[in-house]
Amino acid sequence: MPGAIVIGASSGIGAALARCLSEQGYRVGLAARRVDLLEQVRAQLPNPAFSQAIDISQPERAMAALRELAAAVGDVELYVISSGVGFINPQLEWSEEQRTIEVNVLGFAAMVNAAVQMLEARGSGHLVGISSVAALRGGRAAPAYNASKAFVSNYLEGIRQRCHRRGVPITVTDIQPGFVATAMAQSPQLFWMATAEQAAEQIFAAIRGRKRHAYVTRRWRLVAWLLRGLPAAWYQRM
Ligand SMILES: NC(=O)c1ccc[n+]([C@@H]2O[C@H](COP(=O)([O-])OP(=O)(O)OC[C@H]3O[C@@H](n4cnc5c(N)ncnc54)[C@H](OP(=O)(O)O)[C@@H]3O)[C@@H](O)[C@H]2O)c1
Repeated sequence: MPGAIVIGASSGIGAALARCLSEQGYRVGLAARRVDLLEQVRAQLPNPAFSQAIDISQPERAMAALRELAAAVGDVELYVISSGVGFINPQLEWSEEQRTIEVNVLGFAAMVNAAVQMLEARGSGHLVGISSVAALRGGRAAPAYNASKAFVSNYLEGIRQRCHRRGVPITVTDIQPGFVATAMAQSPQLFWMATAEQAAEQIFAAIRGRKRHAYVTRRWRLVAWLLRGLPAAWYQRM
């Protein structure tokens, strides 16, 4: 039975993906801060599963905790980093910008770092990061969020190049969701909303296909194409 760890498995996309992986026959390790929710997810899984409290905004402690969880799961071939926060922040409150950077940038990079070290020691494996279509452009409503997701996608690309150059067969998958109906997606203006389960299914398809990149759901590639093509002056007026 292959081993997998999902960081950010207490709710939303991460919880749905943990369920999907367990149903597909993985031994799953679940990590996040809310251990009560992790236990609820764990109790629903059909295969052996482990949980660990991890606050990724505390990098040193989080990296040690991830290594502990990996030892408990045993021979982990797949790491998924779904943890993230986002705030609509029109007033540009520094506390919200800072929190976004602490979790989505600092925490994300720390989890990638620890996971890659373990995969390299193992000799192969798969790393998946949950970025966002928001990575493609700056965003006035949540500047730190869009910028943090650009960091996520860019960092994953660098790690992919590194693994390739070192000749270690580690697949690196960048998932860019559009809107997914979770606690994070609360605005009434949202469209093309997927359920967390639909998102998990498509993420699993990208994992199985060893894709470098996937939009979730797939039709978000159209929005991505538009976002990339819009001149900055136009985009600013929208
Ligand atoms: N929903 C969308 O429309 C959408 C669109 C594009 C991208 N995404 C991305 O998808 C990912 C999952 O979000 P979601 O939509 O599933 O929202 P969610 O239900 O709010 O899930 C967020 C997850 O991140 C974890 N997390 C937050 N802060 C953490 C910390 N300091 N340490 C460890 N874990 C932490 C949460 O666990 P605890 O609170 O228990 O720690 C939770 O498991 C995020 O990276 C988000 O940016 C979401």
